[in-house]
Amino acid sequence: MRIVYVIGTRPNFVKMAPVIGALRARLPEGRHAIVHTGQHYDRPMSEVFLEQLGVPAPDHMLEVGSGSHAQQTARVVERLEPVLEEERPDLVMVPGDVNSTVAAALTAAKMQIPVAHIESGLRSFDRTMPEELNRIVTDQLSDQLFIHSPEADDNLHAEGISAERIHLVGNTMIDTLVALQDRFRAAGSAGRLGVEPGRYVLVTLHRPALVDGPLLAATIERLATLAREMPVVFPVHPRTRSMMEAIDSEHPGLLLCDPLGYIDFLSLVADAGAVLTDSGGIQEETTYLGIPCFTLRDNTERPITITAGTNTLLGLDPAAIAQLPVALAQRPSNRPEPPPLWDGHASKRIADVVAS
Ligand code: UD1
Repeated sequence: MRIVYVIGTRPNFVKMAPVIGALRARLPEGRHAIVHTGQHYDRPMSEVFLEQLGVPAPDHMLEVGSGSHAQQTARVVERLEPVLEEERPDLVMVPGDVNSTVAAALTAAKMQIPVAHIESGLRSFDRTMPEELNRIVTDQLSDQLFIHSPEADDNLHAEGISAERIHLVGNTMIDTLVALQDRFRAAGSAGRLGVEPGRYVLVTLHRPALVDGPLLAATIERLATLAREMPVVFPVHPRTRSMMEAIDSEHPGLLLCDPLGYIDFLSLVADAGAVLTDSGGIQEETTYLGIPCFTLRDNTERPITITAGTNTLLGLDPAAIAQLPVALAQRPSNRPEPPPLWDGHASKRIADVVAS
């Protein structure tokens, strides 16, 4: 069996790494070719992750880089086609919901190569999010849809996708977390940044709706106020960094840093008093780890993190950051169980389905 795995961004690496490992172990005679689109290319956004996650060096680098949605998507389509012609895979596997995901699914489907989508069926029902369009199109084009929560099943059925294509396998992002838990728990990143475990808020912000317009300055102001009560650690995504150049972001207690590798970042999540984010994956990682998560968005494609996890939707409203200290003080102290099948073995279940 010949499999091509297409990855391109930070969260893709985390979701795909254990799947590549499980399939290489299950099908040792097969061809396992990794294509890196190059959507993320800075060392801390790409190489550091691949190294820490144990992903073998990619067989093909497409080097698509940054650009508009159309440019980025088109470059992946154009550069992936000859790679798939050369590799002649029986299956192309794509994770998540980024531009590289939808572009790879489209290229493979047009070449009549079966597509498997990891983390299928998530819906925010907000088509202003580029990721929502990527999810819908990728799922329509996919032959095997691997899902990690029951609502994904309902979403896919509602879009006319037949049950035999859908496999509830669990969460591969949590497989990575479980596999590297000992390492990140021993990493002590909080101490190195000079903050005390349990006594800081960890922040990540990168969605265009929040960081590409006036809401960013208002958010930094609210974070500065919060930082007077509790240190705020904020590793800044490159998109956000470029938008922050025009904003005064030097405030006591607000600790800005460059993007962190997987081990350092998960160490900070695991030791945080709370996390404030607009990321999708971090809503899941905090749910697994039992860390309070506050999501600065109007919606989430991951409602299970609210119903069964530790996530609270604050809305796309910087003023809501002021609620954090009270919300934290009022939280029940018991830690919910992680959702079913978020257990570290999702990739093995995917390998079982693919191998059969
Ligand atoms: C992308 C995904 C988003 C995902 C996020 C994770 C899409 C539509 N968006 O958003 O769903 O949550 O990745 O991080 O696919 N840049 C660098 N160095 C890099 C990568 C990016 O400087 O290595 C800068 C560039 O200025 C670029 C900007 O960040 O224009 C945005 O990068 P891009 O990949 O377009 O989108 P993200 O915001 O990273």
